[in-house]
Amino acid sequence: MVVLSVRGLTKRFGEVVANDHIDLDVEEGEIHGLLGENGAGKSVLSSCIYGLYRPDEGRIFLRGREVHIASPFDAIRLGIGMVHQHLTLVPHLRVWENIVLGREPRRGLRVDRVRAFAEVERLLEETGFRLDLARNAGELPIGVQQRVEILKVLFRGAEILILDEPTAVLTPQEVDQLIETLHRLKAQGKTIIFISHKLREIFALCDRVTVLRRGKKVGTLPVSSATPQMLAEMMVGRKVFFEFPRERLAKEEVLFELSHVFTDLPGVPLQDVSLKVHAGEILGIAGVEGNGQSELAEVVVGLRKPKKGKVIFRGKDITAIPPKGRILQGMAHIPEDRHRRGVILDFSVKENLLLGFETEPPFRKGRMTLDFARIRDFARQKIQEFGIVTPGEDTPLRFLSGGNQQKVVVARELAFHPLFVLACQPTRGLDVAATEYLRHILLGVKREGKGVLLISADLDEVRALSDRVLVMYEGRIAGELSPESDEYQFGLLMGGKVLHEA
Ligand SMILES: Nc1ncnc2c1ncn2[C@@H]1O[C@H](COP(=O)(O)OP(=O)(O)OP(=O)(O)O)[C@@H](O)[C@H]1O
Ligand SMILES: [Mg+2]
Repeated sequence: MVVLSVRGLTKRFGEVVANDHIDLDVEEGEIHGLLGENGAGKSVLSSCIYGLYRPDEGRIFLRGREVHIASPFDAIRLGIGMVHQHLTLVPHLRVWENIVLGREPRRGLRVDRVRAFAEVERLLEETGFRLDLARNAGELPIGVQQRVEILKVLFRGAEILILDEPTAVLTPQEVDQLIETLHRLKAQGKTIIFISHKLREIFALCDRVTVLRRGKKVGTLPVSSATPQMLAEMMVGRKVFFEFPRERLAKEEVLFELSHVFTDLPGVPLQDVSLKVHAGEILGIAGVEGNGQSELAEVVVGLRKPKKGKVIFRGKDITAIPPKGRILQGMAHIPEDRHRRGVILDFSVKENLLLGFETEPPFRKGRMTLDFARIRDFARQKIQEFGIVTPGEDTPLRFLSGGNQQKVVVARELAFHPLFVLACQPTRGLDVAATEYLRHILLGVKREGKGVLLISADLDEVRALSDRVLVMYEGRIAGELSPESDEYQFGLLMGGKVLHEA
């Protein structure tokens, strides 16, 4: 039975048609994937169904009856819940308090804490989730916080759950757990709309999938009759290549080096980390997230000082040189947390494309003024080159879809011909075409005889791009593997099994 049905849904933002007469039918008890490139309209469509946006045209039916969803409050009343990409828990409240928040059972005017706790416990039992209800939400790993978000939605009686890119912030292990959780909810009769860019997740999880492209629906099909190539082509509108030829181009010359680096708290202390990136090489860092990769990245860019050891760039000791100085010498950085480090949401696309470089020679005219025409042309060129979906270069970054905001950072960081690029989770949140493009760019950097240090929790990505791979575990380099080594070898090292050197 069709439980949720959308007809001709249209949503415009000024000139942008984010959703263009979209029809969608979701069957009761299915997991329905929503696929599409960055800016295709997935978040807008789900926000319309959840009452966050009012569609300009179109109708929504629940179990055959037309409904008017004017706010999330209406949606919840109708049994529709949404788990957002960014988490919304109150960090200093306990897990159970977060779950009942705004929906607390009361006795008179007081919150009935005993009953609230009991109700949450019952929900846990029903759903088979395991959680420590008494912990503060802020102390939990992201994957667990997300489980709390799901429970929160279930506590409000949701029968239809919308998850907007829930795996973007998760480690591979957490993704597996989430997939298991969602299978269980499906078995209990819940209906799930699942948004993701990862074809592998769509195949592991969904019954049917609907593909959007530039605001329009391309089609809906059963996952069992689809192939990854097919879905990728439906999303992008052209052929997509997943395989890259591996070329050995590494030279003798060491471009970048860490030599016996140790760091202190906070974070995961690095213990005797040494690595060399040669000219013409991509060195990959694999590992379960939280094993020192972020700390390593901070040492590389100069945000964290080693307690011991050296950072060497083109033969020179740069351990004492601050981040800006390193950039000026030709180092670039695609940061992991692009929202915190990479962009200013209230600035325009153009300004974000230049951030930190606006006073550099090509954009400066004379001593005091900037060459605005040149800046505009530069921005337009980058928008085209990276396929950034935006009404124009002057649009505030806030109005771009999540993936398009990321493209802006990537475009900027690679624009000034760096000699060495540190790329941290570079394709996270990017769609198939943007991922493909970015990978080509990183390979291009290598082909030009420059160096790349690639940190990614996506083992497939690390293996696809790297010439050599180091695995990190608890702040150390657990070992080096060739990208062709089998997955089991990687698994062992990632799980902390140190291969002893002969
Ligand atoms: N509040 C807004 N104001 C103006 N434009 C918006 C707004 N929200 C979304 N858009 C535009 O609508 C289009 C669809 O955006 P949406 O966020 O739905 O994309 P998406 O498919 O979720 O992409 P991503 O995978 O990158 O998250 C984009 O072009 C975006 O710039
Ligand atoms: Mg989105």
